[in-house]
Amino acid sequence: SKSAIVSQLAQVRVLPILVTDDVDQAIRCVQTLAENGLPAVEITLRTPNAMTVLREVVRACPDVTVGAGTILTPAQLDAVRNSGATFGISPGITPVLAKAAAESGLPYFPGVGGASDLMLALEHGFDVVKLFPSDIVGSVKMAKALGGPFPDVKFCLTGGVTVESTPTLLQQSNVLCVGGSWMCPANLISANDWAAIAQLAAQAAAAGK
Ligand code: 3PG
Repeated sequence: SKSAIVSQLAQVRVLPILVTDDVDQAIRCVQTLAENGLPAVEITLRTPNAMTVLREVVRACPDVTVGAGTILTPAQLDAVRNSGATFGISPGITPVLAKAAAESGLPYFPGVGGASDLMLALEHGFDVVKLFPSDIVGSVKMAKALGGPFPDVKFCLTGGVTVESTPTLLQQSNVLCVGGSWMCPANLISANDWAAIAQLAAQAAAAGK
């Protein structure tokens, strides 16, 4: 359920974002992240084979909360629901996608870049949103300012977040969590360097404490 996912994110506070097109590497990476303190992950739909990757990770990692990111269309949203993923995320919001997401019942976090996007999200009942890209429109000041007119909204900041910026971002009271790909970079995944990913994951989890 949405509330279960939000509570988990409120506890872990760091959501790794995985971009890879190889099923075995994706599974190994997700296991490594989970074993090192990051039990919820977002798998992006940015690669040609992403839907297969998503399905296989869901199947192989039943103890991990697996969501799908980069959802751009209602068709992708349907495919995500059928994959067994338990939540969806988008970099932005459109009326068509927001309506489809609200009707689908899938726990869903649309992306916003400012107040108008946020008003559209709220019209469709979404009060937990991704503020993207965080290093451009998702500063602590931005989250704080949006907290004025929208006191009940919680933000997941992603895009350009680092292990260094994480603790400061998480201090802002309406920031639920941060997300990012820094703990599972493409070069380490393609090198099968799980030890390095384990270390980055543990550091990221510690930064969320
Ligand atoms: C996202 O989907 O939110 C971003 O691609 C993650 O951004 P990062 O790669 O800068 O962490």
